[in-house]
Amino acid sequence: MKVTVSSGNNINGTLVLPLFEGTTSAPNSAEGIHTALKSQINRVLDDGDFKAKANTTMSLYGTDGGKAILVGLGKEDKANNNTYREAGATIVASHKKSHGDEMTVMFTTDDIDAMTAFAEGMMLRDYSFDRYQQSKDDEEKTTLAARINCGESAASELSLAIDHATAVVSGVHLSRDLGNTPPNDMYPMAFAEMAEAWAEDYDHVNVEIINYEEAIRKGMGGLVAVGMGSARKPCMVIFTLNGQHSGRHPVLVGKGITFDTGGISLKPGANMDEMKYDMGGSATVFGTMEALAASGHKGKVVGITCMAENMPSSNAQRPGDVITTLSGKTIEVLNTDAEGRLVLSDGLWKAGTDYDAEYIIDFATLTGACVVALGHEATGLWSNDEDFRTRIHETSKDAGELAWPMPLLPAFEKEMTDSKIADTRNLGAGRWGGANTAAAFLKQFVPQRGEGDDAEDIPWAHMDIAGTYWGAKTNKTVGHGATGVHVRTLVKFINGE
Ligand code: BES
Ligand code: MN
Ligand code: ZN
Repeated sequence: MKVTVSSGNNINGTLVLPLFEGTTSAPNSAEGIHTALKSQINRVLDDGDFKAKANTTMSLYGTDGGKAILVGLGKEDKANNNTYREAGATIVASHKKSHGDEMTVMFTTDDIDAMTAFAEGMMLRDYSFDRYQQSKDDEEKTTLAARINCGESAASELSLAIDHATAVVSGVHLSRDLGNTPPNDMYPMAFAEMAEAWAEDYDHVNVEIINYEEAIRKGMGGLVAVGMGSARKPCMVIFTLNGQHSGRHPVLVGKGITFDTGGISLKPGANMDEMKYDMGGSATVFGTMEALAASGHKGKVVGITCMAENMPSSNAQRPGDVITTLSGKTIEVLNTDAEGRLVLSDGLWKAGTDYDAEYIIDFATLTGACVVALGHEATGLWSNDEDFRTRIHETSKDAGELAWPMPLLPAFEKEMTDSKIADTRNLGAGRWGGANTAAAFLKQFVPQRGEGDDAEDIPWAHMDIAGTYWGAKTNKTVGHGATGVHVRTLVKFINGE
């Protein structure tokens, strides 16, 4: 979708009117509307036929020409940017062929952030994954175009803000494309090749691939153990943006299980196809790198994606194996289906030792237990630094991608480090608190900065997106499939917004 800004009052195509509850007539600025359409709008508003409740719409077709879609913003005193973003998404979701490809939006506000959020919502929702459908491929594809009418003084600022949002949305859509790609085409080295191809479009990005043989040589025992059971071998893909800069910088880490059968601890068959989304953490990292690169981010950012396919085979790891990770710490593998934490152990260690990490954030579809706790409504958020955790929580709220604080307790750490024969165990003692024990396990592989008495914690956060990366029916910005969640949160957070 192409969104442009105009400081005029002309209407191209269908008029879109975002309205608060209690509005009784069309805004005065709506001059260019056909008279019959305008009186029709005024009548449905005045009669209360359209109450402008949040995310409701009404289509009107004027008798003397012109079409309009009214969209509700709910109560004015409750509205924020998320209200506008959802309303924008709702418009695209309810857009029909009869509305045509062109829309003109007229706001009753001149708030730049609100108008940008609305445009962002429209662009986010204008997504479909149809590259595997011949019928849809043959259909003539039309591109929606939206024009935002605003006052002259706001036009240039709004235009810049919408350009930024367009770049960020390209990252969200990339993350969704990666997540939706079926697992026969999305395997570790395929992801790596996509990353390499992507890097060709930008001057200031670099992609490094650590292949299977190198991973073995370097001692990435977690990544190797999970991936060795598959004919399609594991790899680590490292994205660097603006690597020419020195000094501390954010490091993002992603779980990238391109398919999770559970391994020898095989999962039940029902809905196993959904485990193609188990690389959602790596898709979040890749999508964020795209959003940052496309929006011209100037600082250095590194993304580490841990890619493997978890398969049962004669080469697969077994429950009972003890593996040595990059950190030197050993893990007793009690369940091969708790594989995400194994690949992340190497990614986290590398993040804190090979880079001058200002902070580390990992993304992982890590546990079913997190979905039990928070449903599809919020990401689980753990951190070794309360202030850091609060800042991520606040940013996620503003982005409309809620991440909810969860506890990183010493008791959980104890549970994961009391293996009789290894330094750690990859399974809790019981099933309770499974999302928390997983987070406590990961903490064992976050290195400290400096040594001896000077050693200090690197701020680290773990985000369990098992419930929010897909299947989020209440997420208005997505039709179905991968959500691309947290690309927007991360861009805001990294930009210090
Ligand atoms: N990828 C799954 C977690 C998952 C479950 C993501 C449902 C999305 C939806 C993960 O690798 C896994 O299998 N976790 C196990 C851990 C257990 C064996 C300790 C789980 O949650 O059951
Ligand atoms: Mn698993
Ligand atoms: Zn998994």
